[in-house]
Amino acid sequence: MIDSTTSIRMVNKKLIVPDQVTIPFITGDGIGPDVTAATQSVVNAAIEKAYQLEKKIIWKEVFAGEKAFHQTGKWFPQGTLNAFSEYIVGIKGPLTTPVGGGIRSLNVAIRKDLDLYVCLRPVRYFRGINAPVSQPEKIDVIIFRENTEDVYSGIEFEADSQETKMFLEWLKEQSPDSYQKIRFPQSVGLGIKPISKQGSQRLIRAAIEYAIRNKRPIVTLIHKGNIMKFTEGAFQMWGYDLAESEYKDFIYTARQFEHTKKHTGIAEAKKEKEWALSNGRIWMNDVITDAAFQNLLLYPQDFSVIATSNLNGDYLSDALAAQVGGIGISPGANINYQTGIAIFEATHGTAPDIAGKNLANPSSLILSSVLMLQYLGWNEAAELITKALEKTINHGQLTQDLAQFVIGSTVLSTSEFAKAIISNF
Ligand code: NAI
Repeated sequence: MIDSTTSIRMVNKKLIVPDQVTIPFITGDGIGPDVTAATQSVVNAAIEKAYQLEKKIIWKEVFAGEKAFHQTGKWFPQGTLNAFSEYIVGIKGPLTTPVGGGIRSLNVAIRKDLDLYVCLRPVRYFRGINAPVSQPEKIDVIIFRENTEDVYSGIEFEADSQETKMFLEWLKEQSPDSYQKIRFPQSVGLGIKPISKQGSQRLIRAAIEYAIRNKRPIVTLIHKGNIMKFTEGAFQMWGYDLAESEYKDFIYTARQFEHTKKHTGIAEAKKEKEWALSNGRIWMNDVITDAAFQNLLLYPQDFSVIATSNLNGDYLSDALAAQVGGIGISPGANINYQTGIAIFEATHGTAPDIAGKNLANPSSLILSSVLMLQYLGWNEAAELITKALEKTINHGQLTQDLAQFVIGSTVLSTSEFAKAIISNF
């Protein structure tokens, strides 16, 4: 039974968050219990410090992964899914993907079944972490990665299968030119990459609204539209269409600039852009994926909010996290802004090699809880944790994964690291 007095509701597209709020959580497998305990202690302490007894999270454990399998014989019980959709906001540790045929990745199942179409991956630098680039502090980017289409829809047909043969026959008949492009039809495997207007625009809308809410100066659409015109290229076109039709008082696009340049000349286009940006408009541009990887290394300050399709976003979010030395500590969230349902999660795996040893770095889940507190509107508690984490890392108080690269640092266990953050509030 759901406790309606402590559950979040979505009314007129707005979250109504009670002061005593139930948050379902999945502990996770491997290092899950270590990082979850550390995260909850930091979050509870921050809420107490920020609001005394006025606000509180009531943590409600729900099960998935190995723990669920041992208790119920199911990797992903329906009750867990129900809890996330009823309580709206939840958090999870990493889950083992069971090896063997027929079992979906639990992470993919959660995103799919709850239609969590935004994968949110903020990337910023924490002073004191060893980063591979010379000016990591220039990186402060929020990636909105589409989470339900593209390669995530997983439509693939094996070489030599019945489906592949039937599809090839159909293609040969219906579109001989396309068929001709297949170099080795006898041994080809096929994949289908669906990218729709609806799916793209709901993702891009989320990125635009985030940029407006958080006063971010640039939204960049990243795509490979030069090669894949009707999927990636359409993603870019639908992004500009949305911005120019529904957000024209908030956004000035590179496409508008090009249009003015073509019709009235460069001087007029520059004047128009200058006026728009000096009057608070957000600049929306687009960059081809390969150039984006290059430019994020060379000119990271030119990026602020990124909206991109699934596979691009997969590569970009890990590459960018590596650029700030934070691949193991970057946070993540999967969100449906229409239903409000959001699950915040550690982005690393279960780290079986250090499971149960109190050695894991809990920063990824702690930073995901910061995103969660911001999503709830509990910004004071979020700010306390962020500042204290910055201070802890900057003082060289680090878990072993980061300490090994920082000369003179103090190596802390998972629980000691959580205590250090709390003492730095
Ligand atoms: P992994 O992220 O668990 O481990 C890779 C390496 O990073 C290991 O050396 C590990 O010790 C280290 N590491 C990871 N997180 C750490 C942390 N918080 N603190 C310190 N060191 C950390 O990736 P791997 O080995 O590929 O996957 C293990 C399991 O995790 C698999 O079953 C996989 O399916 C699952 N997984 C789950 C994810 C999720 O639930 N979101 C994401 C990625 C993997």
